[in-house]
Amino acid sequence: MAIANIEGINFNLTEEHLAVQAAAREFAQNDLLPGVIDRDTESRFPTEQVKKMGEYGFLGMMVSPEYGGGGMDTISYVLAMEEISKVDASASVIMSVNNSLVCWGLEKFGTEEQKRKYLPKLATEGIGAFCLSEPEAGSDATSQRTTAEDKGDYYLLNGTKNWITNGGSSDVCLVIAQTSPELKHKGINCLIVEKGWEGFAVGKKEDKMGIRGSDTHSLMFTDVKVPKENRIGDDGFGFKFAMSTLNGGRIGIAAQALGIAAGAYELAVKYSKERKAFGKLISEHQAISFKLAEMATKIEAARLLVYKAARLKDEDKDFVEAAAMAKLFASEVAMWATTEAVQIHGGYGYVKEFHVERLMRDAKITQIYEGTSEIQKLVIAREILK
Ligand code: CAA
Repeated sequence: MAIANIEGINFNLTEEHLAVQAAAREFAQNDLLPGVIDRDTESRFPTEQVKKMGEYGFLGMMVSPEYGGGGMDTISYVLAMEEISKVDASASVIMSVNNSLVCWGLEKFGTEEQKRKYLPKLATEGIGAFCLSEPEAGSDATSQRTTAEDKGDYYLLNGTKNWITNGGSSDVCLVIAQTSPELKHKGINCLIVEKGWEGFAVGKKEDKMGIRGSDTHSLMFTDVKVPKENRIGDDGFGFKFAMSTLNGGRIGIAAQALGIAAGAYELAVKYSKERKAFGKLISEHQAISFKLAEMATKIEAARLLVYKAARLKDEDKDFVEAAAMAKLFASEVAMWATTEAVQIHGGYGYVKEFHVERLMRDAKITQIYEGTSEIQKLVIAREILK
């Protein structure tokens, strides 16, 4: 089914794409929707649901079958992310970090031994964490304080990471740390660290505004011995690794934002056809129908940007600018469209039962993680002005 063409990029979705989309929609309705409000209220991790995500292949969608994954393309991944995010953005961020930051980064840049050791479990049942942010290094990611001291055949890892998605539940962490401060970003490494290693402690769980079902923790490393064979890439490749991985991760978060916006829009359309005011359905009032028209238009524009970035990545073309544009635009649409959905619902929109207030709280994080909106503008500006 042809969806659209932009600058010669064809978004023809195959039967397989549509099957993935349908499977994700069914999973979201059957397995994520029940209990989503309680998990949000109680800030409870969706343990059973994540187990099923692994069984259904949503945790390692793009990982090659050789390493236990689904071998799918980025378009399939964004279709699934959109459907899952419509219902439960906590589940979709768990999925996104595992797929596009941890598994993708490992498969693209890891050694054969690293891939054989870690990918099969990560792609099917385990969860990975991507540990870049620090108390004083969020947007300014080159200012890493965590150190990985070279001790010959191992690194001695010391430091604290903050706001780590999957921090409490992950089995494997990719930790970015400074080895040679005099070399600035060229002295940074990425190390694979396993849960349970001596000196590795999980800190407090954050009490968040949104995506409350996902577990966000600080992580502490005190004299953790990391074998040299757990370094990803050459010595000093860690910052490049983080930046390259985040480029792809931004497509996943853009798809999450798109899903949150589309989920709120679908709820608003449904509600507007049920609720009456001043003697007719509220969808028959232009005050509401014009809002819905604008929401539909902006969401479709966001969708085109997300698909474009995914398609460019699948075609092995430069997608840095497209990914940043997709994330910037889709996250702004998500924040705006969810706010409009609450407005359309009136008083009902402000209470939990109708879902839209949760989607509005969840939307906010898409403007912050994997690079704030300001960082996306910086990336786009650099690309267009270079
Ligand atoms: N892709 C590939 N390489 C890149 C890159 C990109 N998008 N951006 C920068 N680089 C490379 C540069 O080419 C340069 O390499 P060379 O020296 O070899 O040329 C190197 O990185 C340093 O670049 P800059 O001098 O441009 O670095 P900077 O400090 O001026 O800016 C930045 C870099 C773009 C601001 C970067 O720090 C950044 O993206 N910050 C945001 C970090 C972020 O997204 N954090 C999110 C945390 S993870 C998360 O949220 C996951 C989760 O839990 C959901």
